[in-house]
Amino acid sequence: MGKAIRDSGIPRDQIFVTTKLPAKSKSYDDSLKFFEETMQNLGLDYVDLYLIHAPWPWEEMGADYSKENVEVWRAMEKIYQSGRAKAIGISNFNVQDQKNILENCKVEPMVNQLQYYIGYTEPQNVKFAKESGMLVEAFSPLATGYLLNNDTVSDIAKQNGVTVAQLAIQYCIQHDILPLPKAVNPAHINENKELDFVIPDTDMETLDSLVDTAPGEDHNE
Ligand SMILES: NC(=O)c1ccc[n+]([C@@H]2O[C@H](COP(=O)([O-])OP(=O)(O)OC[C@H]3O[C@@H](n4cnc5c(N)ncnc54)[C@H](OP(=O)(O)O)[C@@H]3O)[C@@H](O)[C@H]2O)c1
Repeated sequence: MGKAIRDSGIPRDQIFVTTKLPAKSKSYDDSLKFFEETMQNLGLDYVDLYLIHAPWPWEEMGADYSKENVEVWRAMEKIYQSGRAKAIGISNFNVQDQKNILENCKVEPMVNQLQYYIGYTEPQNVKFAKESGMLVEAFSPLATGYLLNNDTVSDIAKQNGVTVAQLAIQYCIQHDILPLPKAVNPAHINENKELDFVIPDTDMETLDSLVDTAPGEDHNE
């Protein structure tokens, strides 16, 4: 990634680089070490956003790492204060995990990156994060592609003269959430930038009421 950024010729301040602390890192020292390793791999002077990937190691999803997360957050604060991460945040943190950091921090998390797509919107986690002043980022806003096959979503997209991907991305924006669609196909990348439309309130209400829109998609809970 660092090489791609350098080779692109695009000024560094025109690119927003986010990277994450591995979910398995649950101590202060390990967290500083992982950050150094990432920075060496990237060959960059700073990242724009550094996130704790998850409140628990992947193989222990749901386990209570509250005490350790406070230590990890101390390392995140040190990294932030060094200026080598312009912003710091969390990912996959539920309400309790978020409270734990807020009650024990000096610098509050600026972002919570959560799984968010039409039909799966983590309402309590999103509400709490927003009310605590965090920017909510939507990961997998197309449900890793599974949403593209949903008939109801597809009909609403057609009625609005847009694709399902465009509708799903705009849906996040109209809920004040920053969508992070991933695409390697250049046609997809271009399509995902064409968002000069507004989803009418009635369609937003229908989309809000949908559940189980993307069978096959995994959830981190
Ligand atoms: N914090 C976390 O725990 C976590 C977990 C998962 C993901 N994420 C983040 O979220 C980002 C996106 O998530 P994701 O990759 O799971 O899923 P996604 O963005 O919901 O979906 C990606 C899939 O949609 C396809 N796609 C994109 N635009 C399209 C379009 N206009 N038309 C048709 N297909 C389209 C892509 O195909 P092509 O690639 O072929 O274009 C790819 O197969 C990741 O890059 C990652 O940074 C974070």
